Amino acid sequence: MRLFIAIDLPVGHKRKLGKLCSEIPGARLVPAEQIHLTLAFLGDVDADAAGLLTGELAKIEIGAFKLSFDGVGCFPNRHHPRVLWVGLRQNPHLTRLAASIFAVVRGCGIPLEERPFYPHITLARLNLTCSHEVSLFLNHHSKIAVAPFTVREFTLLQSQLSQYGAEHLPLRNFPLATIE
Ligand code: 2AM
Repeated sequence: MRLFIAIDLPVGHKRKLGKLCSEIPGARLVPAEQIHLTLAFLGDVDADAAGLLTGELAKIEIGAFKLSFDGVGCFPNRHHPRVLWVGLRQNPHLTRLAASIFAVVRGCGIPLEERPFYPHITLARLNLTCSHEVSLFLNHHSKIAVAPFTVREFTLLQSQLSQYGAEHLPLRNFPLATIE
């Protein structure tokens, strides 16, 4: 099973974010309902390790927290944009949640990429460079006007690849402790 762990967003936020890149020619938009914040990409995991992982993720004890957006950007750089994303303001709760998840995943014997966690929400992917439209997008949304949202759970998902793209199937939600 090809697995990843992510934070889902409220429907209204996904709809708003889903429209941000719609003007960029050739951009392959992430469908609004699929927009998410990836916490960890695990790749192929066997059923035994997935079972162990589910039990261990359920033991993570972190409270719900608010996340704010922080502009937009692209990977790998402005000159060769391949992935367009919206960023998240630095947040110690998010950092702690991600670190707890990485520790659990590695503890279950599942290897993770060594690159540092850079929280972002992918909005679109590009094959060709449309520098002008990408520059407009980056400048226009540098002070993004999308309200913060409360993270109340994280989710283990399966990614199924097909000729139509990836389908994301939620396998289990892990609620965070309630805040006032
Ligand atoms: P993203 O967060 O930048 O969009 C499911 O495939 C999710 O896992 C995607 O949202 C994707 O990136 C993230 N991901 C991270 N590393 C990946 C990889 N090597 N292959 C596929 N997806 C990966």
